[in-house]
Amino acid sequence: MTIEPTFWVRDIPIYGDAILSPMAGFSDVPYRALCRAFGSAMNYTEFVPVDSLQGKRNPLWNRLNKKPNEHPIVFQIFGNDAKKILRGAQRVEAMEPDIIDINMGCSTRKVSGRGAGVGMMIQPELVAETFRLLTKHLSVPVTGKIRLGWDDDRRNFIEIARIMEDNGASLVALHARTKEQKYNYEADWDAIAELKQAVNLPVIGNGDVRVPADIDAMKTHTGCDGVMVGRAAVGNPWIFARKDRADLSIHEITDTVRLHLREMLEYYGNPFGLVLFRKHLRRYFSGYAVKPLLQPMLVTEDAAEFERLLRKLEEELEREGG
Ligand SMILES: Cc1cc2nc3c(=O)[nH]c(=O)nc-3n(C[C@H](O)[C@H](O)[C@H](O)COP(=O)(O)O)c2cc1C
Repeated sequence: MTIEPTFWVRDIPIYGDAILSPMAGFSDVPYRALCRAFGSAMNYTEFVPVDSLQGKRNPLWNRLNKKPNEHPIVFQIFGNDAKKILRGAQRVEAMEPDIIDINMGCSTRKVSGRGAGVGMMIQPELVAETFRLLTKHLSVPVTGKIRLGWDDDRRNFIEIARIMEDNGASLVALHARTKEQKYNYEADWDAIAELKQAVNLPVIGNGDVRVPADIDAMKTHTGCDGVMVGRAAVGNPWIFARKDRADLSIHEITDTVRLHLREMLEYYGNPFGLVLFRKHLRRYFSGYAVKPLLQPMLVTEDAAEFERLLRKLEEELEREGG
C-alpha cells in the first residue's frame, strides 16, 4: 500500500497534519525527537537571528543541530535586512535543512521593534526582496511564518502571503493573532480560512489548538493543510498521537518523562540536561495536585535521585488513582 503525502512543501512530501511549533526554549533536539516519535509530521527549530550567522560559529548555532534521521526539518531564521538574511540562509543551507523558514511572527519588542519577526510585515518591500533573493539563491524551499499583522488596523496577512507567493515561497504558516494581541485573545480561525482561499500555497494554521479534537476542528473550519501546535504541546507530546491528556495512565506520563529526560541528558549532558528539563517537568504534571512531590524533583541535580523521586510520585498517584 502506498501512503499519499498529506501535502507538499514544493518537492518535500509531508506525511501527517499535526506539526510541533517552533518554540524558543522548547523545540530543541530532544523535544523534537519526542514529538516526532508521537507523530509530529514536520519539525521546526527554534529561531536563530541572522546576525549570529554572519561570523564564527557561536552557541546560537546549536539551535540548528538535528538528528541524522530528522526529516523533514525546517530551520527557522529571522532578521531585518534581506541581504543579511540571504547570507545567513546560505550558511544555514550548508547545514542541510530540508526547508528554510523566515520568522515574520515574533512579537517581542527586541525582535519586532527592530523590523524583524512581525516587524517585517509592516515592510512589504522587505518581504518581497527577502523571498526573491532567497528563492533565487537557495536550492531548498523557502517558507514563512506570519501573524495577522501589526494590529487590528493593519491586518495585512493576505497581502504579505501573496507577496511571499509571488516571490517563490513554498508555504505560509499563520499564527492567527496580531502583534498587538501577543498571545492574548482568541486566535482568529476565520482568517486562516480566508488565507487558504487567497493563496495557492500550502497553509499551516496556528493558534489555540489545545486538545487533539482541535486539530481536526481547525482543518474543517479553515481548510488548512496542516496545524501547528505550540503551547499545548509542552508537556504533552501525546497531542501528536491524537491522544487526550485525560485518557493517559500515570505510567504513560512517567515513562514519557523518563524517555524525554534520557534524551535531554544524552544531548545536553549531566546535570545540565536535568536542569533544562525542569520547565518541561512542571508541564507534564500540570493538572495534578503533586506540588510537594514535584518540588524536590525541580531542584535536584542528581539523575538517580530524580528517578527515586519520580518513583515516589508514581506510587503516590497510583495510590490516589486506585
Ligand atoms: C515559549 C515560546 C517560544 C516561541 N518561539 C517561537 C519561535 O522561535 N519561532 C516562531 O515562529 N514562533 C515562536 N513561538 C510562537 C509559536 O510558534 C506559536 O505561533 C504560538 O505559540 C501560537 O500557537 P499556540 O496557540 O499553539 O501556542 C513561541 C511561542 C512560545 C510560547
